[in-house]
Amino acid sequence: MAALPLRADSGRDLKAFYEARCAVCHGAEGTGRGPDGIRLGPRSFQDPRTFGKATDEDLATAIRAGQGAMPAFSFLLTQAEARSMVKDVLRPLTGRKRR
Ligand code: HEC
Repeated sequence: MAALPLRADSGRDLKAFYEARCAVCHGAEGTGRGPDGIRLGPRSFQDPRTFGKATDEDLATAIRAGQGAMPAFSFLLTQAEARSMVKDVLRPLTGRKRR
């Protein structure tokens, strides 16, 4: 672990990354209704059961490891980037929309 450069702010645009790599399943607004989401059926990020009691760290680990039908992203995102993704991109999507 100590050898990994942990960049809290890598300067990458994680919102753009989400739109390029995640929205295909999770949808631009996190509804889980992206073109492939219809088939694979991830729960909407707005569903109160989504994320359960998971911490940002847990979710970052899940994103990097992959989960169920979701591919692993460890080769594209550092743990710190995945954590920022959860905090700055995914969590905001959970509250903003009512639908
Ligand atoms: C190929 C479709 C697909 C892509 C692309 C995808 N996901 Fe997923 N994701 C899923 C599915 C399906 C699940 C539900 C997995 C399960 O059955 O537990 C999921 C689960 C998750 C969860 C866990 C939700 C929870 O309540 O535990 C998070 C967080 C998540 N995805 C974030 C992302 C992020 C961030 C990206 C882009 C880096 C991404 N996903 C890309 C299909 C996808």
